[in-house]
Amino acid sequence: MKLNGFYDDLKDSYLFHTVAVKTAGYKEKHPDADIIKLGIGDVTRPLPEACVKAMKVACDEQLTVEGFRGYGPYEGFDFLRTAISGYYASRGTKVAAHEIYVSDGAKSDIGNILDLFDRDNTVLVPDPVYPVYVDTNVMCGRRVIYAGANEKNGFLPMPDRAADADLIYICSPNNPTGAAYTREALGEWVRYAAEKGAVILYDAAYEAFITDGSLARSIYEIDGSRACCIEFCSFSKNAGFTGERCGWCVLPDELVIGGKKLADMWLRRQSTRYNGAPYVIQRGAEAALSAEGQTQIAVNLGYYKKNADVIGACLDRLGIYYTGGVNSPYIWMKCPDGLGSWEFFDLLLDKCRVVGTPGEGFGACGKGYFRLTSFNTHEKTAEAADRIGKYFG
Ligand code: MLT
Repeated sequence: MKLNGFYDDLKDSYLFHTVAVKTAGYKEKHPDADIIKLGIGDVTRPLPEACVKAMKVACDEQLTVEGFRGYGPYEGFDFLRTAISGYYASRGTKVAAHEIYVSDGAKSDIGNILDLFDRDNTVLVPDPVYPVYVDTNVMCGRRVIYAGANEKNGFLPMPDRAADADLIYICSPNNPTGAAYTREALGEWVRYAAEKGAVILYDAAYEAFITDGSLARSIYEIDGSRACCIEFCSFSKNAGFTGERCGWCVLPDELVIGGKKLADMWLRRQSTRYNGAPYVIQRGAEAALSAEGQTQIAVNLGYYKKNADVIGACLDRLGIYYTGGVNSPYIWMKCPDGLGSWEFFDLLLDKCRVVGTPGEGFGACGKGYFRLTSFNTHEKTAEAADRIGKYFG
């Protein structure tokens, strides 16, 4: 029997797991340490009331013969697909309900979509990058090349026509850097993909954080994208469903390669390996997209934005370079005093009792950088900024 040898090419553990283990180790040695976590992008605001109300109703339905639901449709319930289509339409973007596939989250879809593509394809990812894009490809031995993001390009790399790629990952607003592409820049990526016959896997998980009206909230706002882009989105960061698990991806009708409609392949894949997100959760997700849900979500997003402002103001005072914090819950900062990412992690934990995520964990170009999130409470974020300001000021 042979194991999948490509696992040997992975780092020993997933980035956020490593951070959690290191933090737990520190806590064991310093049990009284009042640690503030600005590491993993997990939300802290309770769920919108509209979602909880809808989930309670859906739970009660399960007590009745008429309301009970067993297996749901593999693509997601029509009520949610229609609500998501309406969410796009409210911004003037046309995505039909039948092009939307509901799941237990964008992370799963982003990994699972790879089943549709040959192992011999070349994958282009930005560096630094959300580790899932790289690791899921390394696990099946696919060749990964990188588009370097740095201060010079504002952490928004553009296509290099000399490089051939079959699959291209774009995340905007970006995780981890918080930087967001303009429409023109996204148009350039779409043209590049069309020229190369490539598919863009567009991660829109942070679209709700966009406050700059000139930026695109979906790749389908860009001409030509329907023939070469799959979009992934999530209820995690907007409606706070990191625990509930619900997301979706869009496979437009025009996305046809070698005569094969990718949506058909995806349905074949999902119906074989997956039984759909729970009915109760899908009802909660539907409510997140209602007028009431959207109003409540806007309050939570405003809450996180204030946290981002507090962190940004602290870094401004210290004269530290950063991207993000605007249109994004992430702040990507340069480590002070030329420190390495992990050195800064240790120092910040030890001296300020603040946990963040070392930039190096997101790729080689992240060396010397560090990611903070705005997802903690006002009180803890203000306290973290105060400690950082005092120690490095
Ligand atoms: C992050 O911290 O980058 C995210 O929480 C990861 C995720 O959404 O899976």
